[in-house]
Amino acid sequence: MARMRLKPSVLNAAKYTFTRHDQDIKLDQNEAFDDVPERVKIAVLARLREVAWQRYPNLRAERLQELLAQRDGWDAEGILVSNGSNVLLQNLLILAGIDRSLVIPEPTFSLYRQQAQMLGVEAHGVPLKPGSWELDTPAITTALATRPAGLFVVPAPAAPTGNRIPTDALQTVLDAASEYGWLSVVDEAYWAYDGQHALDLIRGHDDRIALRTLSKADGLGGVRLGYAMGSPTTLTELSKVQLPFNVSIFQQVAAETALEMTESVQAREHRIEATREARDHVIAALRRMPNVTAYDSVTNFVLFKVPSAAAVYHDALKAGVVLRRQDHLPQLEGCLRMTIGTETENACALDAIERSLVTLNDDRTPRGGAA
Ligand SMILES: Cc1ncc(COP(=O)(O)O)c(C=O)c1O
Repeated sequence: MARMRLKPSVLNAAKYTFTRHDQDIKLDQNEAFDDVPERVKIAVLARLREVAWQRYPNLRAERLQELLAQRDGWDAEGILVSNGSNVLLQNLLILAGIDRSLVIPEPTFSLYRQQAQMLGVEAHGVPLKPGSWELDTPAITTALATRPAGLFVVPAPAAPTGNRIPTDALQTVLDAASEYGWLSVVDEAYWAYDGQHALDLIRGHDDRIALRTLSKADGLGGVRLGYAMGSPTTLTELSKVQLPFNVSIFQQVAAETALEMTESVQAREHRIEATREARDHVIAALRRMPNVTAYDSVTNFVLFKVPSAAAVYHDALKAGVVLRRQDHLPQLEGCLRMTIGTETENACALDAIERSLVTLNDDRTPRGGAA
């Protein structure tokens, strides 16, 4: 039998790892803390009964394009819908990165580097400023000026650090990217929790794209829908890379219904408001704990540093709370990430973290009279 020769770039790439736990309190994937309203689900199911399942879906998910355009204030022609924004990231790497390079700030969303490696795109990470996690604009400009122009990606708000990227810093790096011929992507997965976005920096520039998702503030993580916003010209090029009919009738109907119905629109607003309030409470509570550094966040998650990420992670797991370890990422030694859940979930998580820290501290304190 012939020996199979797989591509070394794939063989050498790390697998995207994610362990699913059975614990009730799931604060590891930055999902919305609540499900979409029951009435919306019923309406989705009713609409699905009316659709012909043997037919391929609308090629460009046009109704969804229009609804997203109306909601987000963009031209429908400049929106490309896909089955998850991570699929669009892969397509953007194919469009602009292959045989060239990817520049990203780091630490960042691990998928950027992992997908680049898989596709044989040379990835270059520029460290964020430690602690404040601000963009190092001179270092990014140098990277953009000295590498073969390809794809430049910045998550704003930043992930997994959670901070806001100030508009002036973003403008500086986007201008540098334009000057040196890069395609820039502002990944706005968490923008709704902040309210600030980069659309004004993107409008009118063929070489800039915003990426958004329905997986977070819209509460549709299970539906798998993301979209790119940019100029119609560039999105036409991106759509060539995308496989046809990749957004199923189920996805289109679910997302259209959620965007149309008042119940889900109001639920989204409430979710965003409640998350912001709870997030600030969680940050304050973490900051009151000894030996914890909780970083500022404008998202639905909080990054925090503890003396032992492994110990706190496992103690929380035993208490029924799933956090996400981030201590494998550059500069994030000792760091964990907690998604903002319901009030009860947050309280349980904070309690589990505090108990773990007390145990850690007790274990370290020399006990008097020990033999
Ligand atoms: C920064 C960032 N971008 C993109 C995504 C992926 O979004 P989607 O669910 O649309 O693939 C995530 C998911 O966690 C994320 O954190």
